[in-house]
Amino acid sequence: MSYNTIISEFEDGIQHITINRPKQLNALNKETIEELSRAFQQAEDDQNVRVVILTGSGEKAFVAGADIKEFASFSVEQGKALAAEGQQKLFNKVAEMGTPVIAAINGFALGGGLELAMSCHLRIASDNAKMGLPEVSLGVIPGYGGTQRLAQLVGKGKALEMIATAGMIDAEDAYRRGLVNHVTFPSELKELSLKIAGKIKKNSPTAVAAAIKAVNAGYEDGKNGFDEEIKRFGEAFGTPDFKEGTTAFMDKRKPDFKGE
Ligand code: CAA
Repeated sequence: MSYNTIISEFEDGIQHITINRPKQLNALNKETIEELSRAFQQAEDDQNVRVVILTGSGEKAFVAGADIKEFASFSVEQGKALAAEGQQKLFNKVAEMGTPVIAAINGFALGGGLELAMSCHLRIASDNAKMGLPEVSLGVIPGYGGTQRLAQLVGKGKALEMIATAGMIDAEDAYRRGLVNHVTFPSELKELSLKIAGKIKKNSPTAVAAAIKAVNAGYEDGKNGFDEEIKRFGEAFGTPDFKEGTTAFMDKRKPDFKGE
């Protein structure tokens, strides 16, 4: 599949998706959202993809937000549609993927950029990363799920402070607040992402996907996370991966999971 604004490459069980508009600090315009949506769908549909690593091209930015130039003259209706379509096509899609997604945050992750990183299942930041939701400084609010996901990750009080001040925090601060899982040197960001992806890859893809769904259920309206856990736990007993995992344990060998 060919893309104009992203690069999507497969290697050794990992889909590497790179947002590639470095001159605009990888800002998310309509085309980029569409292309990311397609690339994530393709990764989700491909059984060979065990983990996705998402990053931005260049050394300065992961993503500096939604493309301000594109939406500056939008009407109320267009604004609503921008948020609704973006959430449905990309941000919720990433969060609901059964294939785990790691955001490798290599610089600015602002507005829609931080919202995209927060939709991913894990976040690893380089020590030069800067994160924030500066939308209120533009007279708008986060529209790609940021008001919800930031509060879930760092708590309501810290989230409201970040949103209302429109300030940026550095990677160490983000780590202390639980916004990112790890911080590393820029030169080691890819290596650490691959290391963590490698640990995930050894496990049953069906079980990892089920665990993501169970965790997510606790944050979804109308769903009970504990009930979802019971359902997914039971379903796991009917999978070839469960048979392989338990048999391998008893045979004292490493499992060879097929993701079935
Ligand atoms: N949209 C469009 N273009 C952007 C952009 C964005 N979000 N962020 C940066 N760019 C462009 C700049 O306009 C500039 O392009 P030109 O050279 O053509 O002028 C180029 O990227 C480089 O940016 P700067 O010259 O500004 O770089 P800097 O190092 O001086 O500053 C920055 C870096 C602090 C990240 C600054 O670019 C900035 O503040 N960007 C905007 C951040 C922001 O407000 N993001 C939230 C967007 S709103 C949103 O995301 C809504 C939502 O939730 C749905």
